[in-house]
Amino acid sequence: MHSMVNYILFMALVLLPNPSMVNARKLTTKNAIFSVDLIRRNSSKITLQGGGQGKLSLGSISQHHQITLSSKFYNVETVQSAVIPDGGEFDMKISIGTPPVEFTAIADTGSDLIWVQCSPCQNCLGQQSPLFDPTQSSTDNIIPCTSQVCNNDQLGLTAAGCNISLPNDNSCIYIVGYGDGTNTTGVLSTDTVTFASTSIPDVTFGCGYNQEGSLDTNGDGIVGLGGGPLSFVSQLGPNINYKFSYCLTPQSSGVNSKLNFGLDVTGAGVISTPLAQEETSPTYYRVTLDSISIGNTSVPVTNTTIVDSGTTFTYLPSDVYEEINSAVKASIGLTPINNSSLGYDPCYEIDSLDELNFPGMVFHFSGGDVVLNAENSFFPDNGLACFAMVATDSPPYIFGNIAQTNFHIGYDLQAQQVSFAPTDCTTF
Ligand SMILES: *[C@@H]1O[C@H](CO)[C@@H](O)[C@H](O)[C@H]1NC(C)=O
Ligand SMILES: *[C@@H]1O[C@H](CO)[C@@H](O)[C@H](O)[C@H]1NC(C)=O
Ligand SMILES: *[C@@H]1O[C@H](CO)[C@@H](O)[C@H](O)[C@H]1NC(C)=O
Ligand SMILES: *[C@@H]1O[C@H](CO)[C@@H](O)[C@H](O)[C@H]1NC(C)=O
Ligand SMILES: *[C@@H]1O[C@H](CO)[C@@H](O)[C@H](O)[C@H]1NC(C)=O
Ligand SMILES: *[C@@H]1O[C@H](CO)[C@@H](O)[C@H](O)[C@H]1NC(C)=O
Ligand SMILES: *[C@@H]1O[C@H](CO)[C@@H](O)[C@H](O)[C@H]1NC(C)=O
Repeated sequence: MHSMVNYILFMALVLLPNPSMVNARKLTTKNAIFSVDLIRRNSSKITLQGGGQGKLSLGSISQHHQITLSSKFYNVETVQSAVIPDGGEFDMKISIGTPPVEFTAIADTGSDLIWVQCSPCQNCLGQQSPLFDPTQSSTDNIIPCTSQVCNNDQLGLTAAGCNISLPNDNSCIYIVGYGDGTNTTGVLSTDTVTFASTSIPDVTFGCGYNQEGSLDTNGDGIVGLGGGPLSFVSQLGPNINYKFSYCLTPQSSGVNSKLNFGLDVTGAGVISTPLAQEETSPTYYRVTLDSISIGNTSVPVTNTTIVDSGTTFTYLPSDVYEEINSAVKASIGLTPINNSSLGYDPCYEIDSLDELNFPGMVFHFSGGDVVLNAENSFFPDNGLACFAMVATDSPPYIFGNIAQTNFHIGYDLQAQQVSFAPTDCTTF
């Protein structure tokens, strides 16, 4: 029998919460602006699967990357998040407990829950650090299964409730499932989270004692940076003015990217575009893309796209992709190489992206224009420059992290907008 039958699930029908619904707590430091390194996960190279047709359905690029959650706001569509072990994924350091214990967790703008693997563990995935032992932390508290937070089906948990096999156990047991088959089951808890000089008490997180899936030894858990109430960003809420941002360096630079909390995005050329009304899930950062242009060619899109730090490529509707791809080809005046075993399409033979005579392409978001240059539109691969955009026949469309490179990108959950400022992220 499926373990789900062990749960009593309360289905409260309440309005979609806004991020302030989970009460933010006072930080112990006054200065709520802080910054952490985003560490690109080790990978030999970006891997595209499915053959170089350039028409890949979501998920075939990275089978480890889809997130499907079964709660009612999360099952409507499948979205890629930062959980890709294919070179597009970022880790961050996070310390939990008193005294603080440091972990390396995946920074994921495509999901909400913060969780780490805990002892005693029934089934944990391999990891380098010791498991978190909540009994050794003086500030750890278990959330009761009778509490409101455990019985709110708007929080993006796949399931949460009391374990009815253990009638004397008051712990809130949660399950979160990710589309690649990874899942975590554990006890919903609160504890102090610390970054360098900033401590945040009573952060809700999952203490996972049963994990299955692909989280490898580089990650001890996930830090959810989505827009939903349980995400780290929403929990810090007013303390960081509901703002976070990051600046992604080119992979070839070898310089770590930065993730900031509480900082405004400013600078020459900054544009802000509103978040589209979210009918399905508050987790994803969805913006409206009116059109894309290259030189004098303008292709209407009139659809929404998700800005996701964890998806490598940019996904466009197939018809838009075809037009854009032809315009790019015409603008650079080169013939793509014909080699189906490459797995990417199209690729142009060129020693360096600097040699590409590319006029740039403009993404016309509803709030303003974002200009992508060669390094945002192609990735270099052994004497080739391959187009970093692919076609998909079904939404969601995604503005991926190659396109986001060298922009300071800010998310403001209160103003409900995403901002882009062209920036040299290696010196940010
Ligand atoms: C990547 O691999 C190198 C060499 O094996 C190691 O020193 C480094 O810590 C790894 N980085 C991450 C983020 O795991
Ligand atoms: C609920 O408790 C039973 C009895 O200890 C245990 O076998 C089961 O794994 C628990 N369920 C979960 C989801 O932890
Ligand atoms: C977790 O994933 C494994 C493997 O995919 C699956 O067998 C198991 O039923 C899942 N557990 C839950 C609680 O969804
Ligand atoms: C774009 O249009 C302008 C005005 O019609 C024209 O002068 C220019 O040559 C065109 N550029 C290209 C690349 O076609
Ligand atoms: C966005 O694309 C989807 C799928 O192609 C389509 O069903 C929907 O109508 C589009 N939205 C708009 C505003 O065109
Ligand atoms: C590409 O190569 C394949 C196999 O070598 C060949 O069948 C096909 O005609 C080529 N296509 C073009 C456009 O040259
Ligand atoms: C095609 O690409 C593969 C993989 O990069 C490479 O090994 C092979 O030599 C290429 N073939 C041609 C004809 O260029």
